[in-house]
Amino acid sequence: MEYTIRKYIVRINPLKCRKCGFCTQVNTCKSPNNCIGCLSCYYACPHSARTIREEEVTAKPVKIYVDGVEYIVPEGISVAEALTKIGFKYGKPWSKKPSLPCRTGGCWSCMLIINGLPERTCITPVRNGMQISTNVEKLEPLRIVHGPQPHIVGGKATPWWEVDYSSYVEAAIWVAGCNLRCPQCQNYMVTYDNTSKPLTPREAAEKLVVCHKIYSTKGVAISGGEPTINRRWLIEFFKELTRRLKPKVRKHLDSNGTILTPDYIDELVEAGCNNIGVEPKCVNPETYMKITGIEDREKAIQYLQTAWKAVEYINENHSDQVYLGVGLVYNPKLVTLDEIAEAGRKIASINPKIQVTVLDYFPAFRRRDTPRPTVKEMLKVKKILEDQGLRTVIVQTQIGHIGPGNHRKTNNILI
Ligand code: FES
Repeated sequence: MEYTIRKYIVRINPLKCRKCGFCTQVNTCKSPNNCIGCLSCYYACPHSARTIREEEVTAKPVKIYVDGVEYIVPEGISVAEALTKIGFKYGKPWSKKPSLPCRTGGCWSCMLIINGLPERTCITPVRNGMQISTNVEKLEPLRIVHGPQPHIVGGKATPWWEVDYSSYVEAAIWVAGCNLRCPQCQNYMVTYDNTSKPLTPREAAEKLVVCHKIYSTKGVAISGGEPTINRRWLIEFFKELTRRLKPKVRKHLDSNGTILTPDYIDELVEAGCNNIGVEPKCVNPETYMKITGIEDREKAIQYLQTAWKAVEYINENHSDQVYLGVGLVYNPKLVTLDEIAEAGRKIASINPKIQVTVLDYFPAFRRRDTPRPTVKEMLKVKKILEDQGLRTVIVQTQIGHIGPGNHRKTNNILI
């Protein structure tokens, strides 16, 4: 008996494809001859050269074994979809259970054991005779990691007074996979990487600590992609860092805050994370949808609220242990100055001393025709935020970061 199923089929639009190699080297397909509709390549293509259409197709039945029990499912779909069809429940992105937050193969949060090996269920095609084990609790979590590299500026929550723009302030890694789909993703080569070999938290921490020692940095940092979307991995990673580093070394998490629930924050702090950057980006859901590419308004509101609540929660409950930074973004095509002022008032009402960093969104990924804000525009943003009562505002500009007390860098010269 054959199945008739509806699924997305992705095709290449030859008019848009630039043959850039992203889909052959960075975000690669695990089923190139029979699209499984996982949409990884659709989300990842930097030139939007992939189109999707939902189609009705016939599919042969295949047998799979899940924790030893036999099931029949249609072929030509992902393991995640097959499991969902037979009633397997993935966890929420903030839970420690296998979940599906990125669906592009970078975060490894959807990992199960397939034919004896850990593998991502979101991008792996289901095959006849596949043996799947959902018992992964004892398995070390995995994640694709870029770096480590030493960094002169750091991230949103790097304490501004530690940055002198000539010495390395942090050793950082960047992890693949994100739950947002920002068309101007500023780090898309990492975010959509599903090809590099994943590391365990122990392996990533070991490498980062070596980098920290070589460059004598004041802190270590993890950014992305979105680090929080593989909770088991991230908690273990901070525990490993805490075991290996002297207590005074800052352990910095740079996050979009979308899934940073209070219990998740508590667990991170307990694991040793003592420096958190949360980036709600803006205040209005419509702006947030434009910036993040999230089309579901309810989801956008939930993400935005969770991020702002994370700022409040860290400030109220962990200010003695955690140095907090808040991230906003600016580009006149995406955010108005009125909204910047509103965001400023919101942060000032939480705590006017919170460090605020505003990124000047520059042309990248799928928004290559959006001009970068000028230095003058960014200085105006800084002034507006300071006028709302904020005391520590840093703006990223074409000539470097400009922070409190005119602390800034131009061509590596501190002026
Ligand atoms: S959801 Fe599968 S790798 Fe992120």
